[in-house]
Amino acid sequence: MKKVTKAVFPVAGMGSRFLPATKASPKEMMPVVDKPLIQYAVEEAVAAGMTDLVFITGRSKRAIEDHFDKAYELETELEARGKTELLKIVRETVPANVNCIYIRQPEALGLGHAVLCAAPVVGDEPFAVLLADDLLDGQGASSVMRQMADVYHYHRCSVLGVMNVPREHTRQYGIVSTERQDGDVQRVTGIVEKPKPEEAPSTQAVVGRYVLTGRIFEHLRKLTPGAGGELQLTDAIASLLREEAVLSYQFKGVRYDCGSKLGYLQATVELGLKHPEVGAEFAAYLASRAGVDGA
Ligand code: G1P
Repeated sequence: MKKVTKAVFPVAGMGSRFLPATKASPKEMMPVVDKPLIQYAVEEAVAAGMTDLVFITGRSKRAIEDHFDKAYELETELEARGKTELLKIVRETVPANVNCIYIRQPEALGLGHAVLCAAPVVGDEPFAVLLADDLLDGQGASSVMRQMADVYHYHRCSVLGVMNVPREHTRQYGIVSTERQDGDVQRVTGIVEKPKPEEAPSTQAVVGRYVLTGRIFEHLRKLTPGAGGELQLTDAIASLLREEAVLSYQFKGVRYDCGSKLGYLQATVELGLKHPEVGAEFAAYLASRAGVDGA
């Protein structure tokens, strides 16, 4: 049985919502506490057994390649100073058995186009897609991608990570309709990109986690511009599900929308509170602020 071992990370986006922070450095390198967003996504994929990580990059994204590369000077320096803990952190950004592959997306034509850029590496195998903007904190020991890979390995068809959102927010997401409303795993009957609240078929929103079969590439190749004039992954999935089953999976865990300032701040607070080094002091600080400035 073929396991999912390839994960695609589309990281070519501009990150305009975080300007000026993202003027010269990638939005995926913005840290939540002490780790860049992209590293959270990579760790989630690695925890799900992925060993080939395919980054779809663009201009001014070289920091991502450097981050997952060996840092000779830094390592030599830390070694010479006997800073073993820090050395371990630097060396463990990516495990030794994992390959990082970089593909340039010459033009930002949309998420569908970015995923299609991975076709020469992925072939016709099933693969995962992770959008680093969505930081997913899996419940218990299981990363959200691990949960989704398990669903894939059981059912052998594409799986979309979904969560329920307020109806007024449907315009920010791909929205699915499903055969039934109950249960974690449902068969998808339709999907539409960023519908108006009054036109949305449900309030089940796709977050940035997908496991897709290799057939998706055929549908991506036929895409024409959709919402926002972009080649949309959602539209290719709508076409795929006319040919084969696609499932939605209501994941266990919390999602932070780190593509928005508010979501990014919420992630920083929640992960800061859980952080082994600063969590307790940070909690005390927040408690001391309660009631100040209307907090
Ligand atoms: C993308 C997808 C959308 C999905 C969302 C999840 O949109 O196109 O279907 O719901 O990610 O974060 P974006 O947020 O890039 O506009």
